[in-house]
Amino acid sequence: MENKSKENNMTLEFDAKSENESLARIAVASFLTEIDPTVEEINDIKTAVSEAVTNSIVHGYNEGPGKITLKCKLVCNQYEKQDTYTVSSFITIEIKDLGVGITNIEKAREPLFTTKPEFERSGMGFMFMEMFMNKVDVISEPGKGTTVIMEKKLKKVIEKNSIKSSQYNSKLMNHTNSKSIGLVNLKEKSGQRA
Ligand SMILES: Nc1ncnc2c1ncn2[C@@H]1O[C@H](COP(=O)(O)OP(=O)(O)OP(=O)(O)O)[C@@H](O)[C@H]1O
Ligand SMILES: [Mg+2]
Repeated sequence: MENKSKENNMTLEFDAKSENESLARIAVASFLTEIDPTVEEINDIKTAVSEAVTNSIVHGYNEGPGKITLKCKLVCNQYEKQDTYTVSSFITIEIKDLGVGITNIEKAREPLFTTKPEFERSGMGFMFMEMFMNKVDVISEPGKGTTVIMEKKLKKVIEKNSIKSSQYNSKLMNHTNSKSIGLVNLKEKSGQRA
């Protein structure tokens, strides 16, 4: 039984402006298209990205000028068993600013803690990131900036009899072609046949 592994990386730098929040969300969503996440999975990830980017804009740079770096890494492992293919995906998203930094990270991560209650902030950002991702790390130093590293694992099990294995093997994990048809198309194809 054949096992395969692949990795893909992306880095994006943009100005700390609220109009770039949707750019960050969409960039991550489209980077992950190839693993065909569910609507719920992609919405969770987009929400977590939004919260971290908003924090960099609002708190890190106090709505002033600055740069935000977004890094994404995707590692996929495919395991073949007798009747199924399992694709385990491991997503790492890093959002970094060079803003004011956080003095007390533990306190900042407490639900409902905010340093900007006067601006109708509710202190829910880190809570959402933790709810929607499997792991959230915060690295920060006052005066130097903040980096939030989030991880999420996604897993898909595909019944072999729902697709032609030759189709699957040649299209899914072999990225010799620049264009992958991805699981979504495979599922559509299997649906058409059923
Ligand atoms: N990138 C950052 N730079 C500096 N401080 C930050 C950063 N991210 C978070 N913080 C600090 O952590 C606190 C908690 O962040 P969190 O996102 O949980 O809540 P909030 O942004 O205050 O409110 P909400 O996200 O609900 O609008 C913030 O109030 C701020 O003091
Ligand atoms: Mg926030």
